[in-house]
Amino acid sequence: MTLVTITDPRSPASEAYRTLRTNLSFYSLDKPLHTLVVTSPSAGEGKSTTIANLAVTYAQSGRRTILVDCDLRRPDLHELFDLDMTPGLTNLVMEEVSELPLQKTAIDNLWLLSSGTKPPNPADMLGAARMDHIIEQLVERADIVLFDAPPVLAAADAAILGAKADGVLLVIQAGMTRRDHSERARERLEKARVRIVGAALTNAPKDSGIGEYYG
Ligand SMILES: Nc1ncnc2c1ncn2[C@@H]1O[C@H](COP(=O)(O)OP(=O)(O)OP(=O)(O)O)[C@@H](O)[C@H]1O
Ligand SMILES: [Mg+2]
Repeated sequence: MTLVTITDPRSPASEAYRTLRTNLSFYSLDKPLHTLVVTSPSAGEGKSTTIANLAVTYAQSGRRTILVDCDLRRPDLHELFDLDMTPGLTNLVMEEVSELPLQKTAIDNLWLLSSGTKPPNPADMLGAARMDHIIEQLVERADIVLFDAPPVLAAADAAILGAKADGVLLVIQAGMTRRDHSERARERLEKARVRIVGAALTNAPKDSGIGEYYG
């Protein structure tokens, strides 16, 4: 497991993830976030790394935290935590399992609901009415539920899921994410009536004066 918040919790990078967590709580003082989707305009911009480190910092602060791998197209959170891909979310949506197949991670207070068997129709899975019920069940068991989603511009999944969550965090990678892609991603989410709570900048040059987070 190579998450900086676990291997080097005192590093500036870990501190940046804690700042992100704190800023998210300030953002919604009157209506605390219980469910948050993390996505990005395109592939490979740091969604899974960001959400996994954010989940660890929530758990380290004593909050019961559930991480859900909703990137049914490229699931990788189970590998990050050395856990199983199945049974997971899709098996639950398909009613192949009745109990929530939550897996305990090596971190106190942190559980993973992995993606489950790869489905032919990821967007339909996430849009299913049963998904609302599953989210309710997750919220009952945790203080914060974090959903890793596919890129906004690649598929409808992130917008569909985002509309079911309290908010969406957009991950933007310095030197990689194209400006017009960020704008298109924001437009697409807003059209789907998704509440964008902010953006996290990954891979920012050191000493650039750019914080890891802006509102
Ligand atoms: N804060 C960061 N600073 C620098 N590099 C980062 C940061 N976060 C992620 N990366 C790097 O970006 C790459 C992509 O990361 P990651 O797999 O988390 O992205 P992703 O958006 O989930 O990708 P995918 O679309 O394939 O699911 C990795 O090489 C990772 O190490
Ligand atoms: Mg990913």
